[in-house]
Amino acid sequence: MSSQQIPDENLPVEQDAAHGAAEVAHDPFADPGLPAHRPRIQDIDERAANRSERAVALMFTLSMLATIGFIASYVIFPVDKIVFIWPFGHVSALNFSLGLTLGLALFLIGAGAVHWARTLMSDVEVADDRHAIEATPEVKAKVMADFAAGADESALGRRKLIRNTMFGALALVPLSGVMLLRDLGPLPEKKLRSTLWAKGKQLVNMNTMEPLRPEDVVVGSLTFAMPEGLEEDAHDFQTQIAKAALMIIRIEPDNIKDKREREWAHEGIVAFSKICTHVGCPISLYEQQTHHVLCPCHQSTFDLSDGARVIFGPAGHALPQLRIGVNSEGNLEALGDFEEPVGPAFWERG
Ligand code: FES
Repeated sequence: MSSQQIPDENLPVEQDAAHGAAEVAHDPFADPGLPAHRPRIQDIDERAANRSERAVALMFTLSMLATIGFIASYVIFPVDKIVFIWPFGHVSALNFSLGLTLGLALFLIGAGAVHWARTLMSDVEVADDRHAIEATPEVKAKVMADFAAGADESALGRRKLIRNTMFGALALVPLSGVMLLRDLGPLPEKKLRSTLWAKGKQLVNMNTMEPLRPEDVVVGSLTFAMPEGLEEDAHDFQTQIAKAALMIIRIEPDNIKDKREREWAHEGIVAFSKICTHVGCPISLYEQQTHHVLCPCHQSTFDLSDGARVIFGPAGHALPQLRIGVNSEGNLEALGDFEEPVGPAFWERG
């Protein structure tokens, strides 16, 4: 325990000394009542201290391995690899591995630092007097001395194993952030540009799961469709339906204003992506008289009788249209995939 009296610069030297003596006599901080210091096992047994040192070094070393594992995950796991991991179920192998290794790398650095502080750094209780805000040269000198003493007590200079592994762990962990920059590009263009729709894929009613026939779609109705063969319990169902979901309506052919829309329709039946081009909400509000559809998220409104162009709201692009026809069984089918990416716009989209 230490206590230091800070001289008052505004008093003459003799007065200050007398003032200091009086303060020491009535100093409430001279004995703040701390319990007697109890040394830890590491303070008295060098072998225990060395064990702690090795434990800290092990945590820093494992942190380095976890960071290397994080980087390796990018190389090893394809983006779309799904694995079953109890108790999480089906998860992306890449995301799971990235989260696990980065979490471990950061946790082990923290755990190593805490274990180091609790077992090897000095834990001697220190009491000091409250002093004037402006530091005197003596105080500054004391701070520097305390800093040097603290550095010495932390054993950073002596315990080279801890120092080196800690620097290694701290140097490696930012590499995880550098690897994340990979996600900025190049774009997984095919994934954004293609959906399950292809020439000859039948349109399936999402409510009945039956193939749609032209007579099922009447003027004024709104039908939701998905590609045949997409099972609701498929592990990638959400990913696929998020790109392939369709809205089907029927408009009197003469009321279709857009030439391309008319050509891509079948007897006035038009199929548009159900995914809003603003930030990807599913659109579901249809106004029969005007053929407008409204996205409930931010009120973007699209005119399905005019190429699904945006007539209100923040969406930047028309809804992509799917070219459809009828197959030999009389069911509605796609005549290809969408010709532009569905959902929120990105910069390569015209
Ligand atoms: S997501 Fe549709 S308007 Fe914002």
